[in-house]
Amino acid sequence: MRIPIVAANWKMHKTVPEARAYLERLIGLAGRDPGVEVVVFPSFTALPAAAALLEGVPVGLGAQDAHPEPAGAYTGAVSVAQVADLGVRYVLCGHSERRKLFGEDDALVGRKVRAALEYGLAPILCVGEALEERRAGRAWEAVDRQLDRGLGPVEGDPDGLVIAYEPVWAIGTGVAAQPADAQEMADRIRRWLRERFGAVGDAIRVQYGGSVKPDNAREFLSLPDVDGALVGGASLDPDAFWAIVQSARR
Ligand code: 13P
Repeated sequence: MRIPIVAANWKMHKTVPEARAYLERLIGLAGRDPGVEVVVFPSFTALPAAAALLEGVPVGLGAQDAHPEPAGAYTGAVSVAQVADLGVRYVLCGHSERRKLFGEDDALVGRKVRAALEYGLAPILCVGEALEERRAGRAWEAVDRQLDRGLGPVEGDPDGLVIAYEPVWAIGTGVAAQPADAQEMADRIRRWLRERFGAVGDAIRVQYGGSVKPDNAREFLSLPDVDGALVGGASLDPDAFWAIVQSARR
């Protein structure tokens, strides 16, 4: 049985006081174990305050990105080692905004995944096709390549690994994927994981992301091969995010 994982990716939103106010509200809502793993991904600046507030609370913490080198002359970057130090459990690797706006390629994403695992963190590898790739009938080809290269450097069992399937054209557009298409892709991803990691692949959770909202969340979260959601815009309000978490209860 895979426990669903619903995560809030705040992207470049919220000052530290705003992050605190949000988390205080979320902690109030999360008093009872929802039977769902809940994770928030604040900006780096809010991670220490979030870690302090979430101590002993059933809400996990993640970093939106991290550099694979432990230390060095990388102005502006934050390393996996540095976020590990803050009580972070998850690291997003290869979010489409990092790939598209910051020029990250599959090789760098693979190094991030490997570094996260080396530091005992759980990578969430983000994959997803562009609109042109879907229109050309090449969506799986794109995702297959991202899995291949993103997980290529991994040796041994990828403890805690999660895959987030986020079609690029569905992110921030209000146009979510068709649930049947999300299920088909999640099923192919799962078969790929089984082939690569054997029985361990069965336990790896596959999230859907891209314009998930309180009113469509259940359509995705009830799919057999979708084990959670990675939520952007709708996660910025704690009540809306909590409504999505509730939709994942089985
Ligand atoms: P939206 O939910 O705003 O479409 O963003 C999805 C996303 O990129 C989560 O990582």
